[in-house]
Amino acid sequence: MDPKAVKSELVLILDYGSQYTHLITRRIRSLNVFSLCISGTSSLSAITSLNPSVVILSGGPHSVHTPDSPSFPDGFLDWAHSNGVVVLGICYGLQLLVQRLGGEVRVGHTQEYGRMEIHVDKPSDLFGNDKVGSKQVVWMSHGDEAAVLPPGFHVVARSQQGAVAAIENLSRKFYGLQYHPEVTHSPEGMETLKRFLFDVCKVDAGWKMEDVMEEEIKVIKETVGPDEHVICALSGGVDSTVAATLVHKAIGDRLHCVFVDNGLLRYKERERVMGTFEKDLHLPVVCVDAVDQFLSKLKGVTDPETKRKIIGKEFICIFDAFAHELEQKLGKKPSYLVQGTLYPDVIESCPPPGSGRTHSHTIKSHHNVGGLPKDMKLKLIEPLKLLFKDEVRQLGKILNVPEGFLKRHPFPGPGLAVRVLGDVTEGNALEILQQVDEIFIQSIKDAGLYDEIWQAFAVFLPIRSVGVQGDQRTHSHVVALRAVTSQDGMTADWYYFEHKFLDDVARKICNGVRGVNRVVQDITSKPPSTIEWE
Ligand code: XMP
Repeated sequence: MDPKAVKSELVLILDYGSQYTHLITRRIRSLNVFSLCISGTSSLSAITSLNPSVVILSGGPHSVHTPDSPSFPDGFLDWAHSNGVVVLGICYGLQLLVQRLGGEVRVGHTQEYGRMEIHVDKPSDLFGNDKVGSKQVVWMSHGDEAAVLPPGFHVVARSQQGAVAAIENLSRKFYGLQYHPEVTHSPEGMETLKRFLFDVCKVDAGWKMEDVMEEEIKVIKETVGPDEHVICALSGGVDSTVAATLVHKAIGDRLHCVFVDNGLLRYKERERVMGTFEKDLHLPVVCVDAVDQFLSKLKGVTDPETKRKIIGKEFICIFDAFAHELEQKLGKKPSYLVQGTLYPDVIESCPPPGSGRTHSHTIKSHHNVGGLPKDMKLKLIEPLKLLFKDEVRQLGKILNVPEGFLKRHPFPGPGLAVRVLGDVTEGNALEILQQVDEIFIQSIKDAGLYDEIWQAFAVFLPIRSVGVQGDQRTHSHVVALRAVTSQDGMTADWYYFEHKFLDDVARKICNGVRGVNRVVQDITSKPPSTIEWE
């Protein structure tokens, strides 16, 4: 997805490393305004080439006094002023504006962190005339404060301690908020953002997912030449499915998808996802049965890292073979590879000062299964790379991807191999796990809990314990159940099931799955544990 191809007006966020920066992007998008976030130290040409209507300078952990503290490029404010681009500084962004325009920022008398009351002193663009004299609670997080404002600016709101909370320069259309309007702890923050965008900046709330789809299809059509071919590995997850569906809409059957059955899939997963791909989405997809290939390589392997490496390597071999077969069939090499990379995977963030790092890519590489062979030389198509997960779901909905599919819990690339402890080929571990998992997930769905849980699954433990079933002593396996709530999988808490629910599930499992006589629940958060077990 090319940001320059987006027709809607753009609100550009310059990121100075605040933990809330991406929330600003999301809040603005939720108002149907297109917003992007780029590094706060981007060059002037990088900023101007995106042609934004509004630029927001984010907060950040720095002080403007620290040497090397990040800032916008020289000439930026002049460019903004002469092109009618409105600028809003939030927190550190406000301080940058003040300092760069010749005002003064000092270490505050009292540092302000957390909930704070501010009062509006003057009629203003940001709060409106009717708000003069009113108070509101906001979320502050700063040590420095604006002490002397640059020429043309005035204070429109102060904190209860007298610190500057909001500033405006009406003639140049530069604004600043010392607090974070984007967080829910600033209950009137959204109102202020709306006022700023629609009354002050007069941006159009015209950004719709339907337009994203149209623009995206156009870009793909323009990128892929009329006789070029594209390949895509489908995992059965939301991102690759939506990405492939979009590309398919653009170039039809010059897209070639592959789905690998590695023997580490969930119960009936292959039939289920292939059904969706073929019947619901009409995707041109080949299913490669590589069960024996994977399991023979995994035989006797117990080390978790080695298991992952083997699986990654096998995927690449299969993908390679698929591409070569395709080349034979088409008489030419495929040129592009579709990947379901999302915005959070690619956004740059500004690391804290003194960390010795410049801008870093936050790519969740340890969760990706292997890379691709270098000699393939495929160019990438990443149609979702400007979208957040919930936006990908919206897009999927427009593309008629079934709703149940879009709401699926994430599933790891190495599949059940990270849910069977030890050798995945030992006994009928995989079969037992598939059955237990199916009972657990189905029970969660029947209880209406699936959507409030971020991820749920069962784990096979390679130990046996003594039990008694039907008057006979047994020596069978233990399985663990895990369900977590989370925002992004980076941290997680375990989900509190009702006792009755757990009781029913444990009974169903012990009665329904041969080889299991004990069910336990994992009640650890991440950290200290992680979500998967291996
Ligand atoms: P972890 O286990 O790292 O998982 O807390 C966080 C999210 O990433 C998914 N995932 C994996 N987890 N090994 C893992 O342990 C992998 O290779 C992997 N790939 C993806 C996991 O399912 C959870 O959603």
